Amino acid sequence: MTSQSYRGNPDAVRALVKPDRVHRDLYISQELFELEQENFFANTWNYVGHDSQVPKAGDYITADVAGQPLIVVRHSDQSVRVMMNRCAHKGAKVVSDGCGSTGKFFRCPYHAWTFKTDGSLLSIPLKNGYDNTMFSECEGSRGLVAVKNVRLYRGFIFVKINDVGPGFEEYFGDSLSSIDNMADRSPQGELEIAGGVLRFMHDCNWKMVIENLNDTMHPMVTHESSAGTAKKLWSGQPADAPKPMAVEQFVPFMSDYKFFEDMGVRVYENGHSFSGVHFSIHSKYSGIPAYEESLKAAHGEEKAAQVLGQARHNTVYYPTLTIKGAIQTIRVIKPLAADKTLVESWSFRLKGAPPELLQRTTMYNRLINSPFSVVGHDDLAAYRGIQRGLHASGNDWISLHRNYEESEIGKREVTTIGTSEISMRNQYRAWARYMTLTMGGKA
Ligand code: FES
Ligand SMILES: [Fe+2]
Repeated sequence: MTSQSYRGNPDAVRALVKPDRVHRDLYISQELFELEQENFFANTWNYVGHDSQVPKAGDYITADVAGQPLIVVRHSDQSVRVMMNRCAHKGAKVVSDGCGSTGKFFRCPYHAWTFKTDGSLLSIPLKNGYDNTMFSECEGSRGLVAVKNVRLYRGFIFVKINDVGPGFEEYFGDSLSSIDNMADRSPQGELEIAGGVLRFMHDCNWKMVIENLNDTMHPMVTHESSAGTAKKLWSGQPADAPKPMAVEQFVPFMSDYKFFEDMGVRVYENGHSFSGVHFSIHSKYSGIPAYEESLKAAHGEEKAAQVLGQARHNTVYYPTLTIKGAIQTIRVIKPLAADKTLVESWSFRLKGAPPELLQRTTMYNRLINSPFSVVGHDDLAAYRGIQRGLHASGNDWISLHRNYEESEIGKREVTTIGTSEISMRNQYRAWARYMTLTMGGKA
């Protein structure tokens, strides 16, 4: 690691990202991690949960964005509100559970101040003690601090802490088509979180995880021991033998370079991308006739074919949400330290679809995304190796040159071959931009 200090030095931060490579400090510097919390994450739109997690007034979930504790709650008028989980009195966390129902108001566990579910102050014990004080003019009298930039998109709740940078639509642009495709797979056009969360701790920087999602050069190498074993075990079977679901889900990871190249990748401004423009490892799952019929009945034949014809691989909603619409799972990246990242995986139910769909989803989540996954441990071993390897001296740079073209810079959208490292270059350009937006100097 260099002895360089990045605080108050946006030019030094920008110099870490070249058009075709990035500096190793991005992954190993704790100072940069802290600056990311203060600047980068506060300046970007981050996913905090799905509105199906808070169906009734008073239901809440908690989240952390940019190192700040948040409450996401269904207010009595049915709107979803997001506020700082910081009591207006002396700063206690108002709720400590990950989810729950608070009824009509929150009650601080320290001195029992209460707040309505829109954050406004409801009551204070021995209130007359505040008579003849300046309390009504103080911040505390205004209740819990609301997060202003909150947007729901097909039930996905996003927030931006700082009031800088582009609004929601401009930030995500046409990448929202992946969420649309995931929700349109429901005959009712709606998704619902199914069951609890799978948490998988990673000993690596968060950026390694997010860049891996569209790294199509690694599956056939890294996952040879797991997916490769599944492929070998199945190889003696006749072509028409019905495949167990696990084999169906494991084997495509062993597809060759040509498959991943032809799959295609699309990147959008601000770090978003998806692989699987033309097809993906999810395209060949066996059909579920009752589901296809229900989708046709709901959407009409043409739209149903269009929806199912899009089997995108991973879509990255930069920086912390990744979705697999074709299999209805999401992974949420929670950066904890320069070398520690929690990955949370969730399964979704397609409202109105037969139960086989959810079975397929939860199987995939357990097999591929959970801490019990053999595939996931292949990736984890690679990340751990990188996190250690980058402490070696003599080469400060990570190469992202594959299929680099100068003309890709500054474009709102680029579609190219699936084995290009364009999605990573695109992420780091966005990283440098949003990191330095509030560091002073020229944005
Ligand atoms: S800190 Fe919450 S009531 Fe005192
Ligand atoms: Fe992988």
